[in-house]
Amino acid sequence: MGDRWTEVDRYLESRLVPPDPVLTSALASAGGAGLPEIQVSPLQGQFLHVLARALRARRILEVGTLGAYSTIWLARALPRNGRLLSLELRPRHAEVARANLARAGLSDRVEVRVGPALESLPRLAAERPKPFDLVFLDADKPPTTEYFDWAVRLSHPGTVIVVDNVVRDGKVADASNPEPSVQGMRRFFDSLANDRRVRATVVATVGAKGYDGFAVAYVERPTADPRGRGRRRARASREGSASR
Ligand code: SAH
Ligand code: DHB
Ligand code: MG
Repeated sequence: MGDRWTEVDRYLESRLVPPDPVLTSALASAGGAGLPEIQVSPLQGQFLHVLARALRARRILEVGTLGAYSTIWLARALPRNGRLLSLELRPRHAEVARANLARAGLSDRVEVRVGPALESLPRLAAERPKPFDLVFLDADKPPTTEYFDWAVRLSHPGTVIVVDNVVRDGKVADASNPEPSVQGMRRFFDSLANDRRVRATVVATVGAKGYDGFAVAYVERPTADPRGRGRRRARASREGSASR
């Protein structure tokens, strides 16, 4: 089925995603620099863009920049005075990303911060930034639970949080799969199952990147909860080991 999925992706791209020299050169420069080719597909990039526009997002947070392909899709949805902050572990990736953002004319709207996101996120929260309107989580998968918790803490009611790669060829439904990324996603869904702060779903996708999916979560207005469950759980998950 893989060939069929790729064929359909290419067909839909030919109809829905106009040729774009900036995105094409961003991909070429990332590929040329030896970065892994694991960016979102063009249709997925368009999805992120449409979502950001629909939310009228002015402040976007991304975790996992790579060569800034998804960053460009998202940042182009911002108004002039909008801002996107993207967190990236590897200095080399950040360097390629910044060059691509400069070529895209987005340097004034986008900041790439280098470091492990589990350090960058608490540091960011300590700055007490204005809440983000849209968050895209797409870094390493094992700490997704912790990334998501920080994302909620950096949100306002109505913020949408998107998490990439939550289905992974269906492996997510296999409790016995030992891959850390699969275990990470299962731990994330266990945590979501009790998280009263959000309402969440998964949009599964098939295409050139295989069978995968996005979790899409809407941050709810806090409600008085006599058992205080949502908050206690969240604190427990933040303080738990990130490397499980
Ligand atoms: N969002 C990008 C793809 C990101 S790939 C796109 O669609 O175009 C995942 C990225 O997360 C890689 O660049 C990787 O270096 C980065 N990453 C891995 N572990 C990380 C960590 N602990 N903190 C921040 N970024 C991390
Ligand atoms: C991988 C990571 C991603 O974020 C992705 O979208 C696809 C693949 C990976 O690490 O293999
Ligand atoms: Mg991804």
